[in-house]
Amino acid sequence: MTDLVRLEVEGGIGTIRLDRPPMNALNAEIQHGLVAACREAAERRDVAAVVVYGGEKVFAAGADIKEMETMSYTDMVDHSALLQDFTKALAGLPKPTVAAVTGYALGGGCEVALACDWRVAADDAKLGQPEITLGIIPGAGGTQRLARLVGPAKAKDLVFSGRFVDAQEALAIGLVDRVVPAAEVYATARGLVERYVGGPAYAVRAAKEAIDRGLEVDLETGLEIERTLFAGLFATRDRATGMRHFVDKGKGPAPFE
Ligand code: CAA
Repeated sequence: MTDLVRLEVEGGIGTIRLDRPPMNALNAEIQHGLVAACREAAERRDVAAVVVYGGEKVFAAGADIKEMETMSYTDMVDHSALLQDFTKALAGLPKPTVAAVTGYALGGGCEVALACDWRVAADDAKLGQPEITLGIIPGAGGTQRLARLVGPAKAKDLVFSGRFVDAQEALAIGLVDRVVPAAEVYATARGLVERYVGGPAYAVRAAKEAIDRGLEVDLETGLEIERTLFAGLFATRDRATGMRHFVDKGKGPAPFE
């Protein structure tokens, strides 16, 4: 794994830390690193949930424009798969994920945040998809995930104009879920997912898969996905533990492994 992206694990939470000052511009090395960090976070049993964090100053100001400037069409035919791979790796992580957004989350940075389950933003954060100002469009999933999150009209406003939105507007349109003082962003994001440590991991994983896959298909197919995942949970120890705890009138949360 590269030093530009680290998976730091503490207390059951994995923090994927972007670390490429000054702006955490996402070059190819960091994009590969993100894929590797997501894979490691998915596999590690001591990671129940994931926070993506770029440090106190900035989340990420997008793909590395200096690296892309000299790329040709054929270069980008190859590279564009990687651009989508790192956000797909994050979106497909079978554990709860939250982006802790300080400073700027622009372009590919905003797309990283969009690939998480939730977003906590600093009150002075700015988010946006400014690619149009470079003569391109979002290429790490932004046109798809932004429209699904905030609706097509708002997504078109942000993507066509490239304008930045402040934290309050981001909250109002559903682009972020919580706005807190900058110094509290990381702790708040951690706090949002701490409840999943020691919880029924397979049920949470199934719930995430059912909701995310269900959003891509018609209702009948979505219900079929739910039915299969629901039945599958009856093969897990967590299901046996959870139901036995209730039937035995156990106090507090069930003792999941
Ligand atoms: N790529 C490469 N370098 C970047 C960068 C990026 N996305 N964003 C900032 N930097 C660099 C700047 O070039 C500058 O480097 P130097 O010190 O060597 O000159 C350094 O980071 C600091 O940036 P600024 O001097 O511009 O800082 P600022 O405070 O005046 O402005 C900013 C901050 C508003 C974030 C501004 O840097 C900016 O607009 N950045 C570009 C944002 C952008 O267009 N992102 C989309 C990228 S394309 C993309 O992401 C495609 C995709 O969908 C995957």
